[in-house]
Amino acid sequence: MALKGDAVRKKIVELLQNNTEGYTSGEDVSHVFSISRAAVSKHVKVLRDQGHEIESVTGKGYRLLRKAEKLTEVIVQQGLETRIFGQRGMHYMASVGSTNLEAMQLAFANAPEGTVVVADEQTGGRGRQGRTWHSPAGCGLYVSVVLRPDIAPNEAPIITLLTNVVTAEAVHSVTGIVPVCKWPNDVLIDGCKVAGNLTEIFLSGDSVGHVISGAGINVRPLPEKLVPDLRTVPCSLDEVAGKELSRVALLQAYLTQYEYWYLLTKEQGFAPLLARWKALTDVVGKELTVQVRGETYKGIVTDVSTDGMLVLQSEGGVEHRLFSGDIL
Ligand code: BTN
Repeated sequence: MALKGDAVRKKIVELLQNNTEGYTSGEDVSHVFSISRAAVSKHVKVLRDQGHEIESVTGKGYRLLRKAEKLTEVIVQQGLETRIFGQRGMHYMASVGSTNLEAMQLAFANAPEGTVVVADEQTGGRGRQGRTWHSPAGCGLYVSVVLRPDIAPNEAPIITLLTNVVTAEAVHSVTGIVPVCKWPNDVLIDGCKVAGNLTEIFLSGDSVGHVISGAGINVRPLPEKLVPDLRTVPCSLDEVAGKELSRVALLQAYLTQYEYWYLLTKEQGFAPLLARWKALTDVVGKELTVQVRGETYKGIVTDVSTDGMLVLQSEGGVEHRLFSGDIL
């Protein structure tokens, strides 16, 4: 059966994008998808209206010059090969208080696992420990996903590590730079914070009801007046990559990585994920000070436990297993 509407346009974008040689003739497009030449030119018009820059040259055909940059469902799905994440409802908002709060409401209204909320701007972006996550329009990727994992409440820290790995892998795939994961939720490049994760859990009785996993990734530099007073200086992916990156490509990479690590963890348990997180972090073996709700712990990080806790051995051999906190 011939594809229609958004489905065929998704394929046309992929076809044009994969033709790195140059132009794809209207005739080729019409043959590949068994549609008329008139239909091809209508689809190209819709794609241009969506923001794609498509050149057409008589006698040669079409060439994709630049993909659309809006984080809407239809654009993000063009080139997204996941089955779950981003395919079961992707809610784009030009402006929202917090994507995590929005996703939490959707989860209470029975939104399925893999539902995505993404915004161009957050007016009340939330960071860990009650901090603000500055989220000006067009500057970053602000994204939350709904999860319904079959885990016990004490295993919940693993979701933060999972999102941390996913964020780091997505950053790696668009910049080519392997970042460093800093427990529990930061992603750093050259010591600067490029991203942070916020996991919010709804407990239903003794079990985990649903989890909202949020990521804020600095793509463009923050306006100077908004640079937060953090111990770790923030910086943007554009700055470290030395070019303007696509937020659409970053979101596609993020959702692809989410699906990979989430399903792998479901099938094989926490071990592969923990191994990857440990390979991406530099905290194990270091002497650190960690603050947990006003208490300060000092010692050597000996491990990260199978359920995502930081294991810190202080002087005298006392072992602390920290669920959450800030490395000073
Ligand atoms: C931190 O480093 O403190 C965590 C920052 C998490 C920010 C993201 S942006 C998308 C999602 N929505 C929010 O309100 N916060 C998270």
